[in-house]
Amino acid sequence: MDALIAAKDKLNNKGFLDIDLDPTLDLYEEIQKLKKEKNAILLAHYYQESEIQDIADYIGDSLGLAQKAASTDADIIVFAGVHFMAETAKMLNPGKKVLLPDLKAGCSLADSCPAPVFRKFKEKYPDHVVVSYINCTADLKTMTDICCTSTNAEAIIESIPKDKPIIFAPDKNLGAYLQKKTGRDMILWNGACMVHEIFSKEKIVKLQNRHPKAQLIAHPECEAHLLDIADHVGSTSSLLRYTKESTYTEFIVATEPGIIHQMEKASPNKIFYPAPPNNTCACNECPHMRLNTMEKLYLCMKYELPEIHLSERVIKEGRLCIDRMLDVSAKAGL
Ligand code: 13P
Ligand code: SF4
Repeated sequence: MDALIAAKDKLNNKGFLDIDLDPTLDLYEEIQKLKKEKNAILLAHYYQESEIQDIADYIGDSLGLAQKAASTDADIIVFAGVHFMAETAKMLNPGKKVLLPDLKAGCSLADSCPAPVFRKFKEKYPDHVVVSYINCTADLKTMTDICCTSTNAEAIIESIPKDKPIIFAPDKNLGAYLQKKTGRDMILWNGACMVHEIFSKEKIVKLQNRHPKAQLIAHPECEAHLLDIADHVGSTSSLLRYTKESTYTEFIVATEPGIIHQMEKASPNKIFYPAPPNNTCACNECPHMRLNTMEKLYLCMKYELPEIHLSERVIKEGRLCIDRMLDVSAKAGL
């Protein structure tokens, strides 16, 4: 109990447990032990650092992670991902403890669409169906008719009656891509992912010139001028599948480079080039996803902090659009 109080104190405003660790501790072993002891499942997104991916019980894209969170019988869900993913897991499992190693692991897309501003915007279009990308806050989900991820977005749009106009939030790039693919009448919220907007088309074209046999593969959060020249566009799981199944052996990967770990594991003889950003830093790494570390993960599992809390109202109202999404996905075999 004393240790728990001390740990809570260490959490304070930081968003993670700031406790010094013995550097000789084998974090891999310790985390494995904690998983067993606490009947905890560790879910990790493809954008996590390689070490975290390697210790996860399940690695996936946003849809796969939501599906896994919905079906798990573990007592504790530890989310190595970002805040909206852990919130989604909590909405799907209100009775379970959901932990996130760093509460400040947010998302620029979720931040771009504050719920009170969106409420006013939505009031202007009372006859529109609201489709929100899962990369949004729990509050936004309470105002959403149906959620989507990059894997099921087309199926979700197609599930809406053809005569119904749509508000799509918060990603304008994914929205524009869907508008083009489905020909639907859509109003787009003006949000974007900081990671996918930083790629330099000029540098990518130069890289293509240096590696003329490489395929350009891109996530639909990228801007249209990149998607237009890509050989394949898809969610992280779709990009991974494409690299496994393709007869090509070189790929320029225009998404967060964390996914390359799984691509290299699945196809050790293929070569993957991370798409270059429009500056010299490692800005194509998601600064939110990368807040999670093995140390924070271990501490979070040991002390069961930080934990995700949502009000009953948000869980009840926010969950509806996720349940609808999971239903359409299941019917579409996704
Ligand atoms: P997917 O997991 O749907 O590929 O989306 C990527 C992403 O940006 C998650 O934050
Ligand atoms: Fe959000 Fe982009 Fe990071 Fe995904 S990669 S969590 S969309 S900021």
